[in-house]
Amino acid sequence: MIRVFETPTELASHAADQITAIARESVAARGHFTLALSGGSTPAATYRLLAEDAVYRASFPWQQTHFFWGDERPVPPDHPDSCYLMAYQTMLSKVAIPEAHIHRIKAELDPKIAAAEYIAELSSCDQLLKAEFPRFDLILLGFGAEGHTASLFPGTKALAEQDRWVVPNWVGKLFSMRITLTAPVINAASHVLFLVTGQEKALALKGTFEGLHEPEQMPAQLIRPQGQLSYFLDQAAASALSPETLT
Ligand code: 6PG
Repeated sequence: MIRVFETPTELASHAADQITAIARESVAARGHFTLALSGGSTPAATYRLLAEDAVYRASFPWQQTHFFWGDERPVPPDHPDSCYLMAYQTMLSKVAIPEAHIHRIKAELDPKIAAAEYIAELSSCDQLLKAEFPRFDLILLGFGAEGHTASLFPGTKALAEQDRWVVPNWVGKLFSMRITLTAPVINAASHVLFLVTGQEKALALKGTFEGLHEPEQMPAQLIRPQGQLSYFLDQAAASALSPETLT
């Protein structure tokens, strides 16, 4: 499902609605909500809204939610590039959440150790449904100007991973070793919600939806979850999509 909103602010408000609705549905069904957060800058407005707006603050099931991340940069949790820090500053620091419910990727460690520790964290979380892959209630994803999502970048090794849940992924163009959930884990989620704003994303979105199926170039094409897939776009990001794609 693709929904287009006039502005990033309107998108953030609808994203907060959608996330809260899925959270409450998950808690009603199973007593908890497992959420993998996205990094980058786009989701910040939504995270802030959830924690600061009186209605969302009161209706979101903070005590029953387990917070994870879809990926992390190789930095400590107090580094400005940290996906964890962005979520902490905009949301997690503003509400009372049991520390045991915050499952940070320790990407400041050696990459292999960081990936192994995060796999252990996923495995030991009883609230996270598991079969061959852990099954998140909701995974939030961003979308890069060249089409990456999480830390699944075009032409990188992690795109081909079909077995491991979490891998270190070398991203040469950033000179960075990222830690990321793999496509099979993302596809096992009950809900996947992309939040995408900005004109700079428009062509890569067009390539993802309307171009050849070439996930090596357009990693978001790998994301075909068993559950519900939603793209929330602002008008700028959706501006290159054809009417057929949007209906
Ligand atoms: C990250 C994110 C990444 C992000 C996109 C979009 O760690 O950077 O997981 O996938 O969502 O790069 O970033 P913006 O929201 O800043 O455009």
